[in-house]
Amino acid sequence: MDRLRVTGGVALSGSVRVSGAKNAALPAMAAALLTDEEVRLDNVPDVVDVRTLARLLGDLGTSCERLGRHRWALRTPEVTTPEAPWDLVRRMRASVLVLGPLLARTGRARVSLPGGCAIGERPIDRHLEGLRRLGAEIRLEHGYVEARAERLRGAEITFEDVTVTGTENLMMAATLAEGETVLRNAAREPEVVDLADLLRAMGAGIEGAGTRTITIRGVPRLHGTEHRVIPDRIEAGTWLIAAAITGGKVTLEAVEPAHLEAVFDKLGKVGLSLEVGRDWIRIGNGRPLRSHDLVTEPYPGFPTDLQAQYMVLMTQAGGTSRITETIFERRFMHVPELRRMGASIELSGNTAIVEGPTPLTGAEVTASDLRASASLVLAGLAARGETIVHRVYHLDRGYEAIEEKLGALGARIERLSG
Ligand code: EPZ
Repeated sequence: MDRLRVTGGVALSGSVRVSGAKNAALPAMAAALLTDEEVRLDNVPDVVDVRTLARLLGDLGTSCERLGRHRWALRTPEVTTPEAPWDLVRRMRASVLVLGPLLARTGRARVSLPGGCAIGERPIDRHLEGLRRLGAEIRLEHGYVEARAERLRGAEITFEDVTVTGTENLMMAATLAEGETVLRNAAREPEVVDLADLLRAMGAGIEGAGTRTITIRGVPRLHGTEHRVIPDRIEAGTWLIAAAITGGKVTLEAVEPAHLEAVFDKLGKVGLSLEVGRDWIRIGNGRPLRSHDLVTEPYPGFPTDLQAQYMVLMTQAGGTSRITETIFERRFMHVPELRRMGASIELSGNTAIVEGPTPLTGAEVTASDLRASASLVLAGLAARGETIVHRVYHLDRGYEAIEEKLGALGARIERLSG
């Protein structure tokens, strides 16, 4: 299995282009199931999860043609089998995003329950409740969701708690339902808005994406279109923190600053200077770093997907910071590994108390999930000596060419294969 060797002590400098958002590309690919015409997607990140979903869609009857490193043409003349098998769903729970489109297109879906993962239980009960409200008959057996619906009918659906892929699944299902659907307490993430933009370009009637209430007027069919996926705000936040933790000066290109307001606000409080342009961000040297508490929240709050990276930054900031994770119940898997590198972190329920600054020393560490592994790379950049990050396949799921991008900024990082 690949490992990354990171040697700390270099202040990053230069500029880096941010890739398209994985969490926007995945629902966009699933949306291609909703029409028999071609959907062309641009700015799709070259990451493992995209290739995994392309394979799953291929099994369902979608032809997924790669037109370039970041460009795909998807076409589903007909759904040959409406089944997302356990072997694929267990590896990528975003596969559940085919559930809504399959039901809307064919009236049938058999999707493996995702099961838990490193960061939490990850149930999809809210997805299923919403589909039942649209008239689907849902049975759970042998670890699979068996769903049937002659014709989905529009309904009023209120999500008990915010769910990003739940909102996306229901929005897609409702585009072909009979009548109007209203989603209340919907997720407001930019990735939800991007999906709504794509669906509208395909002929869907959607209002309110990006707010708590989304209204979808069902139409008989959708048509093909071209769509450019939004930039990845989590990748952008990861590089900002990498620059901050190494005391560097870095420019991010091809980003959407409007998606990072909560991150800018927090980094400003930590003492970092940020310049923001139309599609670029420059972060300067913010020494000394000041500790500042964090509570993760659904968008537009500070994203849970940057919590681990922010925690590493707080190990280098003067003072005590309290980091509270409100979205996932087990998203502190990076803490034991950071402690082994010298971090002073105490856990109390869903809050981590970080004392800083503490010098970090390089170590052999193991990645547990996508964003925790990114935080271990950042820790390696700040540590004295050499860090070997094991199980780098977690990183490859959501970061395109991480060693090339960080290497181009001056980081001493290389992939050890085998
Ligand atoms: C999406 O996951 C993202 N994945 C996650 O990014 C991200 O961390 C998460 O949203 C929160 O922003 C994709 O978009 C592919 P949720 P999702 O449904 O939709 C609970 C990454 O690193 N819940 O908003 O699965 C759930 O267990 C990944 O790129 C239910 O209880 O997250 C969690 O505690 C990690 N029942 C909370 O709600 C449900 O039916 C939020 O989950 C659905 C969710």
